[in-house]
Amino acid sequence: MTLGWPFSGFRQGGAKSRLIFALDVGSLREAEQLVRTLAREIGLFKIGKQLFLHAGPPVVRMVRDRGGEVFLDLKFHDIPRTVAKAAAEATRMGVRMFDLHASGSLAMMQQTVTEVNRVCRNEQLRRPKILAVTVLTSLTREDLRRVGVQAGVESQVVRLARLAHEASMDGVVASPLEIGRIRRECGRGFLIVTPGVRMAKSGWDDQKRVLTPEQAILAGADYIVVGKPIRDAKDPQAAAREIVAEMERAGAGQRVRGREA
Ligand code: C5P
Repeated sequence: MTLGWPFSGFRQGGAKSRLIFALDVGSLREAEQLVRTLAREIGLFKIGKQLFLHAGPPVVRMVRDRGGEVFLDLKFHDIPRTVAKAAAEATRMGVRMFDLHASGSLAMMQQTVTEVNRVCRNEQLRRPKILAVTVLTSLTREDLRRVGVQAGVESQVVRLARLAHEASMDGVVASPLEIGRIRRECGRGFLIVTPGVRMAKSGWDDQKRVLTPEQAILAGADYIVVGKPIRDAKDPQAAAREIVAEMERAGAGQRVRGREA
């Protein structure tokens, strides 16, 4: 039996390297302050459209200079060549992972994977993980119908995850409730990055489809993305440490079950 991330993950730096903090702020200064506070507790920092458009590539360098890794969350969607060339630039920036919309087509994903592999080979760069976004969690069945998609949300998520797998993408960004189905359809080696995580005791803010860090890991997530619960905590470092500890406990639980299996 092949076991999930707790084994490989702990060997490669533990749960800390599987926790992604969403740097959802509007300035380089605020981002720098958060990275300075959290770089010892958290391995990866997610930079989205707002911060990247405001601060540009220097924000990626800032995170890396402080010892963090970057998930560049720009969700590319365009003709294949344009996305492949954008992906090459993300690769040159040294990000650890970036994402694009699976609905951009099999060809768009395949050309991106090919171009990133070519650039890494020719320029001897580290290969980032390339993730697919399936159906945004803000979309309902009615939203899909209005853009001509007759399938329900879950079957569309699974369809696009399988397409990403076929295109040799490394994984998907998926809501907690979709983890199990995607894991079954796409196998153990396919990465699942999961936002929508909340500590059990917190009020669940604006996240409706949520799991705790432990539940997300037990469900099969490889990475979890957390923003608000750390950012708004009285002590962000303690909040991050608490999440990492919970992820580790869930990993240990899986290890015991793995041995028993
Ligand atoms: O709510 P929180 O601040 O923890 O969200 C962290 C990140 O995950 C945000 O950047 C948000 O855009 C993303 N997210 C998502 N899908 C969700 C919920 C949050 O992609 N369902």
